[in-house]
Order: sequence, then structure tokens, then C-alpha cells
Amino acid sequence: MKTLVLTEDEIRIAAAILRRGEPVAMPTETVYGLAAPIFDVNAVKKIFTMKGRPSDNPLIAHISSLEMAGQIAGSLPLPFFLLADRFWPGPLTLVVPKAREVPREVSGGSDTIGIRMPCHEAALALIEAVGQPLVAPSANISGRPSPTSAKHVLEDFEGNLSALIDGGPCEHGIESTVLSLIGPIPMLLRPGSIEREELEDVLGIEIEEAGSDAPLHSPGMKYRHYAPKAPIEIVFSPEEIQNSFVISKEAIKPYLHRPLNARHLYAHLREADAIGADGISVLLDPISAKNTALMNRLSKAAGK
Ligand code: TXA
Ligand code: MG
Repeated sequence: MKTLVLTEDEIRIAAAILRRGEPVAMPTETVYGLAAPIFDVNAVKKIFTMKGRPSDNPLIAHISSLEMAGQIAGSLPLPFFLLADRFWPGPLTLVVPKAREVPREVSGGSDTIGIRMPCHEAALALIEAVGQPLVAPSANISGRPSPTSAKHVLEDFEGNLSALIDGGPCEHGIESTVLSLIGPIPMLLRPGSIEREELEDVLGIEIEEAGSDAPLHSPGMKYRHYAPKAPIEIVFSPEEIQNSFVISKEAIKPYLHRPLNARHLYAHLREADAIGADGISVLLDPISAKNTALMNRLSKAAGK
């Protein structure tokens, strides 16, 4: 099949394809998502097959209004409304009890559901046009770096995907912060551009952070992630660099240099593979080392 590349003005075509039961890739402010209507079990199953995603790894539901959250969640706690009011639309996923009506395939058998309202006009318009929440994992083959441009989506799915909306490069470049509101104290399951301190400011309490037992809380955390084919070595001084493809704050001669930041990290990892680099050296600077979300993705990509 030829993958149809749509513009942001062609939302109605994308919505029609989704209503026919075919997944469509859509841009968001974080990374591109592979979308399907939440109540279409067959389309949801197609997403797992296309990505090669383990069936116990739950999908995030994307909504365009708070009413939609009411349709797919059970009881919603007060922190949900405080955080939604402050950060939505935006890169924050809130895990809450799931409504019984939502197919169990969506949540990998769990009775919870992750919900977010993306901050991207095309994604919001698409959800509106389909008239129900869209589940969307990142639009990459499982284990590969997430896609932050339409080109990346095609690298993984050209010929195996009906349509893709090209919304340009993603603003944040890494996936949303995931916060569970299931236990008595909110728990950070995945760091992202909305930081722990910002969440704590709104809630007025300290939140927990999922440690080495994270797989218990967030199945996705136990799988290898964000990894290019080329091995990554993280180094702390230019003398330690072993590869000619270098990601660092400042350029270092004579290496091929790409700037180190969350927004472009995945694009650089994909580029290294595209040009056949046999290894990637990431030179950490003190400021980048303090960026929790960047460090989380880097260490996973490096297989740590
Ligand atoms: O920014 C994002 O979140 C992107 C865009 C497309 O919205 N989506 C994304 O989806 O990153 P995905 O499927 O690649 O990652 C979702 C993560 C996984 O680690 C999954 O285990 C966790 O969120 N998650 C989803 N629902 C959950 C739930 N009910 N309970 C615990 N963890 C959940
Ligand atoms: Mg993903």
C-alpha cells in the first residue's frame, strides 16, 4: 500500500480513514503518534501488530475536551482537574481509573488508563472530527527512537500505513511526562518536559518517583527503548570520544557534530543510523546532565 501523506488542511480525509478502521499517524507537540479510535478494537489491535508492541503495554488516550475524559475514565480525583487545568493541552499524561466501556486491549489488561490532551491543532482537530478519543503510541517500530518528523514515520511504516498527517517537526521532541494518580500519592512514571517540581507546585505536595519497580506501575518501562542500531557511549570529556558521530553541546573538531538537546535527540539518533555510523558518542555537559527527561531517554537509548 502507498502511504498517503496529508497536510494539516486535510483532517477530514484522515478522519474518514480512521472511521474506516485504519490507523493514521498524527503530529503532536511531543512526538508523532500512531492513532486509532479508542472504541474500535480491531484498529487498536492493528496498532500493536504494526509496531510489534507487546500486548501488555498500555496505550495513551488523546482527548480534545474534558468531557471526553469523562467517557473513558472512572472516578476522577481532584489532582486530575488541577493538573489538567494547568497543563492541558500539553505534554502531560495522567493515569486514572479506566471506564469499563473502554476495551481492555487499549490498556494492556490493566484497569487504568493514561489520558492526555495534546497541544497540536492538527491532533485536536482530528480527535474532534472522529468524535471519540484517539489512542496513540509513538509512531515508531517498538524499540526504535520515537519519530519527531513525518520523514521518521515513513522510515518505519512506509507501505504499511494508510495515511500520515505531516505537521512539521515536533516542538518538544520527547514523549510526555506520565503521572499516575492511582495510589494515595501521585507517582511519576516517565519524566518529560513538564518537570516534577512544576507538578508539585500545582498539587502542593511531594510526588513519588517510580524507581526500579517502575515496570510494576508502567509496563512500557521494562522494554528497551529509543535505541538506534549504532551503539551509544556516554562520555564526560572530549578525550574519551571513540566514535566519529558526536552529540554534544559544542562542536568538537574533527568529529561530525550534532547539538545535544531533548528536541533533536531522536532525529540525531535516526540520522546516525541513516548514514551508517558504527557508533555514537554523547559528550555530557553539566547542564544537560541535570535534564532528567533527556538523561532518561539517553540512558535507555544506550541500553542502560
Ligand atoms: O508524548 C507522548 O506521550 C506520545 C504522543 C504520541 O502522545 N505517546 C507515547 O506513547 O509516548 P507510548 O505508547 O510510546 O508510551 C506510553 C507510555 C508507556 O511507557 C506506557 O507503559 C505508559 O505510557 N502508560 C500508558 N498507559 C498507562 C497506564 N494506564 N498505566 C501505566 N503506564 C501507562
Ligand atoms: Mg513509545
